[in-house]
Amino acid sequence: MQLALPDTLRWQDDQLHLLDQRQLPQHIEYLAIETLEQAWQAIHTLTVRGAPAIGIAAAYALAQSMHPRHLETHEEFLRRLQGNADYLKSARPTAVNLAWAVDELVKAGQSSPTYNTLVEAAVEIHREDELICRHIGEHGAGLIEPGANLLTHCNAGSLAVSRFGTATAPMYHQHAAGVPFHVYVDETRPLYQGARLTAWELSQSGIDVTLICDSMAATVMSQGKVDLVIVGTDRVTANGDVVNKIGTLGLAVLCHHYSVPFYVACPSSTYDEQTPTGAAVPIEERNAEEIRQSHAATVTAYNPAFDVTPAALVTGIITERGIAHTAQDLAQLIPRTLAS
Ligand code: MRU
Repeated sequence: MQLALPDTLRWQDDQLHLLDQRQLPQHIEYLAIETLEQAWQAIHTLTVRGAPAIGIAAAYALAQSMHPRHLETHEEFLRRLQGNADYLKSARPTAVNLAWAVDELVKAGQSSPTYNTLVEAAVEIHREDELICRHIGEHGAGLIEPGANLLTHCNAGSLAVSRFGTATAPMYHQHAAGVPFHVYVDETRPLYQGARLTAWELSQSGIDVTLICDSMAATVMSQGKVDLVIVGTDRVTANGDVVNKIGTLGLAVLCHHYSVPFYVACPSSTYDEQTPTGAAVPIEERNAEEIRQSHAATVTAYNPAFDVTPAALVTGIITERGIAHTAQDLAQLIPRTLAS
């Protein structure tokens, strides 16, 4: 399966380069990250976004920040590593991938406190992510029957990961296999990840796409035009609750009402077995200006970036190891270590 899409990020000559997703689809430009503060800003401002992608970017940024500049003891190296790791984790609170990837690097640094070890660990996280997405595609492909109409929300596509995406991986897999299907894409207010990113990447790849406003999902479902919903996730908790882009909960409720299967694609790096339920997940609240834009300059606005879909509304969770239908299935399928 080949995709003619730009790399989400690159590691070149000891430096992280991020595709600037704020400029898509009009411009394909890469931002060279020079400092840890720039990496923090890039994650915070959604220059790089999507749960796995922010984890990979943070891993490289952390490694880059530990480039040896002066002599230091192992203790000093580890103290600086932990400080930089904690700082990067504070860039966005909801996607567990960010903390997970940074913690993996800290663990690698503790067993061998060298710059090269950290770079190797970041490269491994990046490489594993691509493999995991490929496997999610294989496991989820059978859900997409010839002639199916799908609906997705936000961007859990190639741009949100290393390659192939999570929710989109089954789509890319079936498209490569010549299976015809069609995808409704929610535009995803307020930052339009659906309109700017998902509709763009799917249509660039030759997949039949129809863009809709978020508020139209109920209508297309009521008209019997949706056979299947697949979304990504920022965190799945121990009980199977799904935290994802604001608007996902509404879709799950609609799916329940209209008897449409609601699937979530979840790589192991997004599974958080330490957190019991979605209620315990910190939900990022972003600047109200993203909602007001220029339309309602003086009005108070509320801008939670994510919502929690209760496990009871989820038909299945597509992982790199197969599809889980219960929280117990999920705990058995996903080992909390990198896939091999
Ligand atoms: O705010 P964003 O654009 O980072 O939100 C992204 C999502 O909600 C995705 O659905 C999720 O991170 C999964 S990406 C494979």
